Amino acid sequence: MAEPGLSLGDLIDMQIRQQGPMSLASYMGLCLTHPTRGYYRKADPLGTGGDFITAPEISQTFGEMIGAWIADLYLQMGSPEKFTLLELGPGRGTLLADALRVATRATGLAEALDLKLYETNPVLAAMQRERLSAHSPDWIEDVETLGASPLIIIANEFFDALPVRQFVRREGKWYERSVGLADGQRVFGLSPTPYQEALIGEAFASAEDGEVAEIGLAGQQFMGQLCRLLGPRGGALLTIDYGYAHTQPGETLQALARHAPVDPLAQPGAADLTTHVDFEALGRAGRMAGLTVHPIVTQGSFLTSLGLAERHSALATANPQKAASLASAFDRLTRADQMGELFKVLCAASPGLRPAGFPA
Ligand SMILES: C[S@@+](CC[C@H](N)C(=O)[O-])C[C@H]1O[C@@H](n2cnc3c(N)ncnc32)[C@H](O)[C@@H]1O
Repeated sequence: MAEPGLSLGDLIDMQIRQQGPMSLASYMGLCLTHPTRGYYRKADPLGTGGDFITAPEISQTFGEMIGAWIADLYLQMGSPEKFTLLELGPGRGTLLADALRVATRATGLAEALDLKLYETNPVLAAMQRERLSAHSPDWIEDVETLGASPLIIIANEFFDALPVRQFVRREGKWYERSVGLADGQRVFGLSPTPYQEALIGEAFASAEDGEVAEIGLAGQQFMGQLCRLLGPRGGALLTIDYGYAHTQPGETLQALARHAPVDPLAQPGAADLTTHVDFEALGRAGRMAGLTVHPIVTQGSFLTSLGLAERHSALATANPQKAASLASAFDRLTRADQMGELFKVLCAASPGLRPAGFPA
């Protein structure tokens, strides 16, 4: 049981003094989800008053497009009498509130819907309860408890919030990045002995000295687990996040507080720690589970192919006083120099399904 007066930084330092340096993944895990002091356990981090803003909070149209995507998939799945819709990390519940306003127009979908939410943050869960009560959601702590119904999984900016491991190349060998103490200050270090080469993966085989292999093992394992659950149930997983389409060396860890970058070691639990998502690795996990992984597309192309421009222009015609803010939200979601290209979309689906927004 943690002492009430101690900060998460104090607890981490005590652990390092007792047990030695911890891996970056362990450090990230504590910073993000320590039961009482973790970043995602305490407060609402979203919005202009928080640390960052996400697509559903920029415009209602983001969730509406996902709603149309869900409705289309539900119809392709043969309009089952019951299906589970699971959102991972639903934030304030905004995406689902907007999505379900649209999706429930599909005949039978509202009656068939079994809504499940996977959320670690009690403050956000309370907001989700308020926002989504009309759809009677249940919160699950373990995805293995899902029933046997067909399943649609949505995750926006979820995988970037899971811990990663980093390995640094030194004289032809890989050493794991750790967090230790020097002169009482938290510092990055390296494991004293090298890590097994074979476990790092072929994508990093030609890495040069000094290069970093960043491996989102927790995300890849969770993706594999979810896709194995999807297999026998039928359905699809859609995930949207910032990241890269092909596994590549490089480090992307960043800490954000009040919309600005901060030192990731300075205030554990007070800043969001994230990394860019390796979509190729997530796709590999989906394929290994037997699903069809559709070619990764950019957020800009996904949203526009679902009709985002038409929706924005209909809203602007109906509300001319909002035309400027709608145009700015459209740019923010789709332009290459804003979220349009950095954010990617991946869908892993049962063979035979043709998820909208992906090339046929
Ligand atoms: C960056 S926010 C995105 C929120 C929302 N999807 C949106 O787009 O606005 C990450 C979400 O994932 C949740 N989350 C982070 N780590 C989690 C974990 N390990 N287990 C479950 N939920 C987690 C957070 O509490 C939050 O709801």
